[in-house]
Amino acid sequence: MALGRAFSVAVRGLSGVLVEIEAHITSGLPGVHLVGLPDAALQESRDRVRAAITNCCNSWPMSRLTLALSPATLPKMGSVYDLAIASAVLSAQRKSSWARLEKTVLLGELALDGRVRAVKGVLPAVLAAKRDGWPTVVVPADNLAEASLVEGIDVLGVHTLGQLRSWLSGKAQLAERISAPPATPEDTLDLADVIGQSHARYAVEVAAAGAHHLMLTGPPGVGKTMLAQRLPGLLPPLSHEEALEVTAIHSVAGLLSGDTPLITRPPFVAPHPTSSVAALVGGGSGFARPGAVSRAHRGVLFLDECAEIGVSALEALRTPLEDGEIRLARRDGVARYPARFQLVMAANPCPCAPADPRDCICGGSVKRRYLGKLSGPLMDRVDLRVEMHPVKAGAFGVEAGESTGQVRERVAAARAAAEERWRPHGIRTNAEVSGALLRREFRLSPSAMAPVRTALDRGLLSIRGMDRTLRVAWTLSDLGGLTSPGRDEVTTALSFRQGGGG
Ligand SMILES: Nc1ncnc2c1ncn2[C@@H]1O[C@H](COP(=O)(O)OP(=O)(O)O)[C@@H](O)[C@H]1O
Ligand SMILES: [Mg+2]
Ligand SMILES: [Zn+2]
Repeated sequence: MALGRAFSVAVRGLSGVLVEIEAHITSGLPGVHLVGLPDAALQESRDRVRAAITNCCNSWPMSRLTLALSPATLPKMGSVYDLAIASAVLSAQRKSSWARLEKTVLLGELALDGRVRAVKGVLPAVLAAKRDGWPTVVVPADNLAEASLVEGIDVLGVHTLGQLRSWLSGKAQLAERISAPPATPEDTLDLADVIGQSHARYAVEVAAAGAHHLMLTGPPGVGKTMLAQRLPGLLPPLSHEEALEVTAIHSVAGLLSGDTPLITRPPFVAPHPTSSVAALVGGGSGFARPGAVSRAHRGVLFLDECAEIGVSALEALRTPLEDGEIRLARRDGVARYPARFQLVMAANPCPCAPADPRDCICGGSVKRRYLGKLSGPLMDRVDLRVEMHPVKAGAFGVEAGESTGQVRERVAAARAAAEERWRPHGIRTNAEVSGALLRREFRLSPSAMAPVRTALDRGLLSIRGMDRTLRVAWTLSDLGGLTSPGRDEVTTALSFRQGGGG
């Protein structure tokens, strides 16, 4: 048969679309013609496929070969179609098509010698194949653990093009699905390692319980980074669906570990302060890579030294903070990535950043300007602000603080209480509650509200600030096992809002 057909998947954002690849051999001068395949990456694909077929099967057609990919409007970046293109060509050279080829989705890049190389985005591609009812998907052997995360479809792993050809003709077996691929191990950072800083430790616990964004300020070496790194350990594990979604993002970013692909814990992502906008929110030339905000999806985005971050990068964070997703326009369409993260920011109080604040040489206006650029829409979303101070010698030798395990239990109980309360309103955490709902249906007693009223009267608090204070007060109440916040919880919440130290 002079016409061969094979199937692969194009992934844009996290959604996959089936792609049909046709290879047509006709008489004429030897040469390869690409139809609807203008991309440079596919020109390279053609060259790899030709070398791989020549080297492993010794059968490159000596006449005119036309290759077509459809639909024609799909993203054609990357090398994931190599295996399907090669199979279509091999099939076109045979007298009859392989029955297996008609029922199989093929993913994988070819090396020149015919080895099959791992590719990015296997998880979303396999999910798409399953959704469209395909019975079988063949992936690079190095991606088999990742592909095995998807149930309800046969997944097979292949090492070489020759092996694939033998399997297509029913002469060989391929590696079968890896049952229950192990999840990524838990990180070992424990809250018990943090000496002193009881107020900041509590703020991290509150942030975990209510999903509030958090800002830590203080001189270098007081433990800001240390605390931020311990927040994910306090959060509940991801549900199976969340784990698949987070894993799919990391798959597309090419960041999955081969043997332990499934990400079951909230990720922690700490971009460098001088990261480009594209590194932060996604993009890059050609293929739209997910950025730090998407890799932090369902986890923690830690912006260390956030006063050093450029204004355009800070500005770019607004959309994902508001929408929980990022849309990247490309020539071949829009790639969407989820980006719902918990923000933790850390900063020195001033640019000279002495270890002892008494040694500061900055003038008042320099100091104000330093953190001033963070104000506005970004800081407005940060419910918890904590000023940290150097640990006094007296803090050493006293009993160690609670461990991550102990605090995590309280966080889980508080989250359960919040979930129960907000369920009728379709939300799960205190950080998501709208001010209107709080004011309409969850009014606090006049005595509980007194500290807020005073702050409002003195012009220290906006209505928006009040809403944020009340959200935190609900979290404090949940952590304390109360049915609703009283005056103490509101007072403490107010001090968190205003950045008071402990
Ligand atoms: N409160 C603390 N408890 C225990 N170790 C601390 C504390 N603060 C700082 N350290 C030590 O100092 C190092 C630097 O702390 P780090 O969290 O990076 O400070 P910061 O981010 O505030 O500059 C840590 O790796 C840790 O060894
Ligand atoms: Mg630090
Ligand atoms: Zn200074």
